[in-house]
Amino acid sequence: MTPGDRKRMLDALGLVDWQPRADRMPAGAGAKRVAVAHETAHTPAEDAPPVVPEAAAPAPQETAPKPPVATTREAPAAAHATAGDDGHDTLDVMVDMPAGDAGAENAADDVSRMGWEELEAWLAGRDHRGATRPVFGIGARDADVLIVGEAPGANEDAQGVPFVGRAGKLLDRMLAAIGCSRDTNVYITNICKFRPPNNRDPNADEVAADWPVLERQIELMDPKLVVAVGRVAAQTLLASKQSLGKLRGTLHRYPRRELDVLVTYHPAFLLRSPGQKAKAWVDLKQIARRISEK
Ligand code: URA
Repeated sequence: MTPGDRKRMLDALGLVDWQPRADRMPAGAGAKRVAVAHETAHTPAEDAPPVVPEAAAPAPQETAPKPPVATTREAPAAAHATAGDDGHDTLDVMVDMPAGDAGAENAADDVSRMGWEELEAWLAGRDHRGATRPVFGIGARDADVLIVGEAPGANEDAQGVPFVGRAGKLLDRMLAAIGCSRDTNVYITNICKFRPPNNRDPNADEVAADWPVLERQIELMDPKLVVAVGRVAAQTLLASKQSLGKLRGTLHRYPRRELDVLVTYHPAFLLRSPGQKAKAWVDLKQIARRISEK
């Protein structure tokens, strides 16, 4: 990484530079160098951390995760979780999901055959579950990189576009630091396509109902890398109950196709916990490395 790259990355993450942190420094001793952030931990409602019900496989599998679903007729089992992206979360309630997309009773609902336009129109015709509109996704459909978040918030619900709030702005800056943009070379979507009512956590039914759409988006796009942003996305895509802390740091294989999955922090979490941005930087570099590989 050149000094210019490094500066861009630090700027994107809102980091000043590597500086000694006074509270870690014994008097007169050499300083441990840690990242210091500009931003405060203020988090608006839309940036609440993804402490939402999870979609996860019945059995956690770290080394060889099972696919979340085998076909569009199967949805991931879902579970409720209790904490944020700090690696200490636990799943506390497992909910058995009915196999299959609840609405896919006939051929017209077979999303596994749909193209982009048909899929988007099909989603728009679904029960909005109290949301204003679906948030299907945005970006380059032929991109190598697919970013998957959790669910739309208030801003996304109003605009019909994922990641347009404060967390989205940070995500865009992070992506820009590695030469990525929703305008050119990444596609961005969410696990859940409708904002949960009153901004509450998405429940198991909602995750399961929207799963076939995401699965079809992955098939149509056939990206090189999926970046799971936050714990909900990571656990759902990898069919794992493991904490984000455990899931990040290694490149996972999405089980159903030749596709790598990289797990990183949700930008809303980074806004609340700027001290973790240094780790996000590590993840960004890994993303950049992976996409530069042929
Ligand atoms: N958080 C998400 O996970 N997705 C969005 O689209 C916005 C905020």
